[in-house]
Amino acid sequence: MSDTIEHHFKPITHTFLDKEWVEGFTIYYKSVDGGKTSFLIFAQYTPEDYTRLEKIMKEGDRQDFFIHENDLIRYFRECILVRLRRGLEKDKPNPLEVVRRTYPVIRRILGDYLEYDISPRMLRTMDELPDILCPLFRNEVIPFPALVSLTLKDPEIETHCANVGMYSLYFAKILELSESDMRDLFLGGLFSDIGKKDFPESIHTKSELTSEDWSTIRKHPSSGRKTLNDMKCYSENVLRMVIEHHENFDGTGYPFGLASEKISLNGRISRILDVFDSMTSERRYRKPVRIIETLTEIKDGMEGHFDPRLLTALFKSFTHS
Ligand SMILES: [Fe+2]
Repeated sequence: MSDTIEHHFKPITHTFLDKEWVEGFTIYYKSVDGGKTSFLIFAQYTPEDYTRLEKIMKEGDRQDFFIHENDLIRYFRECILVRLRRGLEKDKPNPLEVVRRTYPVIRRILGDYLEYDISPRMLRTMDELPDILCPLFRNEVIPFPALVSLTLKDPEIETHCANVGMYSLYFAKILELSESDMRDLFLGGLFSDIGKKDFPESIHTKSELTSEDWSTIRKHPSSGRKTLNDMKCYSENVLRMVIEHHENFDGTGYPFGLASEKISLNGRISRILDVFDSMTSERRYRKPVRIIETLTEIKDGMEGHFDPRLLTALFKSFTHS
């Protein structure tokens, strides 16, 4: 194998071996010879080989094992999502429990995509999640505080994307959007920050950003849109939500400085949810702000940034929930 496919492997440990993945996958190890990197087949995993391979991977002197992205995508489709759907069909859990079970799957898919050099095809493994969540949010009452309490507030990009996606479902419900529009809003939220995939690690850890860092950060909406546009399977509503999620209602945002209704509805909603989740989450340079203080700041301190009618709809929904 040539080193040109190096970037399509994800490192794994014995903990990745899944007893329920009947179809199994190929385990690779990395070989570096004369400066040339190759990925060589180590073993074919099936559940029958679980004990033997777990022992070898735990105790062997080879530390680096890998799965190819094609198998990783199959794993999410054939194992993780099948297990999720079967569990929901069997247990018929309440709406919040459905969200609680679905949320880590979303974070895991987004996390693997963002952390490793894996194809955007990985994102398509989430295609069936709107089918699970959109009818749920349209037909059931899920209070915003309960939804927020189920989400994590760590500084990871996948957590922020998953949160904006989940909160988008709530917003779609209060605006009584169609299931198709709700689906677009959800996907646009999930993908809002995928343009940060190739950020240098230093940007995530710095407390003081340089003008060069800001220039990189301001490119992420366009970069995310390009990734999705190249996939040719997402609607214009999704693409606009991704590229417009940092546009402010008063025209002070980026990348275009669009104002008021020139920003799509999805873009205006995502601006509110992006700020809400960022402020209520931990960042490496500050502690999370309490939810009530965040909402007050959004309403009074940063009001010009947001569509006032959307803010009114959001706050009105709290008094009725
Ligand atoms: Fe962003």
